Amino acid sequence: MSFSAAGRRLVDGVDLDVFPGETLGVIGPNGAGKSTLLRLLAGLLPPGQGEVRFEGSPLARLNRRRVARRIALVAQQAETDERLTVRDAVELGRTPWLDRLGRWRDEDTAAVDRALAAVEMTALAERPWASLSGGERQRLHIARAHAQEPRLMLLDEPTNHLDIHHQLAILALIRSLPVTAVVALHDLHHALRCDRVLALHEGRVVALGTPLEVLTPTLLRALFGVEAHLVNDPDADGPLIAFRLCPN
Ligand SMILES: Nc1ncnc2c1ncn2[C@@H]1O[C@H](COP(=O)(O)OP(=O)(O)OP(=O)(O)O)[C@@H](O)[C@H]1O
Ligand SMILES: [Mg+2]
Repeated sequence: MSFSAAGRRLVDGVDLDVFPGETLGVIGPNGAGKSTLLRLLAGLLPPGQGEVRFEGSPLARLNRRRVARRIALVAQQAETDERLTVRDAVELGRTPWLDRLGRWRDEDTAAVDRALAAVEMTALAERPWASLSGGERQRLHIARAHAQEPRLMLLDEPTNHLDIHHQLAILALIRSLPVTAVVALHDLHHALRCDRVLALHEGRVVALGTPLEVLTPTLLRALFGVEAHLVNDPDADGPLIAFRLCPN
C-alpha cells in the first residue's frame, strides 16, 4: 500500500505480512513513516493505493465495532479528556465490548483491574488523568489498549517517557500478552528483543527480518548515520549495540 499527503508519499509501496502472535518492531529515522504506517494498519487512514487486510478481510469493509474489538492503537501523543480519572480512561477500552445499552458487567471491571495491575497503576486508579506524569500517561494508554483485549496491538513508541524499569516491564508485558504486536521503536535495544524488525526509510521498507538480520552496522549507518556494532555481554539476555556518530 501507499499513502500520500501534501504531494509526498509518506508510505511508499509497503508490502507486509504480520504473523499471528509475533512482535514486529518498526524502526526508522524521524519522519520515516512509522506513525503513518501504524495509522494505516489501524484503519484510521485509508491507503491511497492498496489495502490492509485483517485476518483475510479488507479492513475497510469490516464493521467498526468489530475492528474496535480486534485492533488497539496506542498513539505517539495520546491524549484523553482532562476530567477523567485513570480508571475512567482505562474503562474506555471496554467500550466496544458493551452491549447496545452500554451495560457494564463484572468481566469489564475485571479486565480494567487486570490492565491497571499490568502497568502497575492500580494505586493511581482514582487520580485525575491531568495530574499524571508523562510516563504515567503513557502507561495509562497502554492499560486502555490492554483492557480492550484486542488481537492486534499497534504501539507507537510505547516506551517513550518511561523509566528503565517500566520500559522493560512494558515490553515484557507486550510480549506476554496473547496478541500480535506492531511496535514503532527508537530504542534499538528494544528492537533487538522483537521477533522481527521492519526498517523504514522515506516510507519504504529497506529491511525486514530477524533483529540480527536487520540491525547490521551497514543498515544502521545508512538509516541513522551512526557507526554501530554489536557487543556480546555474557550477563545480558542477548547482544547489545554500541553507537557513535559517523565521522564526516
Ligand atoms: N498529514 C500530513 N501532511 C503532510 N505531511 C505529513 C502528514 N503527516 C505526516 N507527515 C509527514 O510524513 C512524514 C512521516 O511522518 P510520520 O509521523 O509517519 O514519521 P515517523 O516515522 O513516525 O517519525 P517520528 O520518529 O518522528 O515519530 C514526516 O515527514 C511528516 O512530517
Ligand atoms: Mg512517529
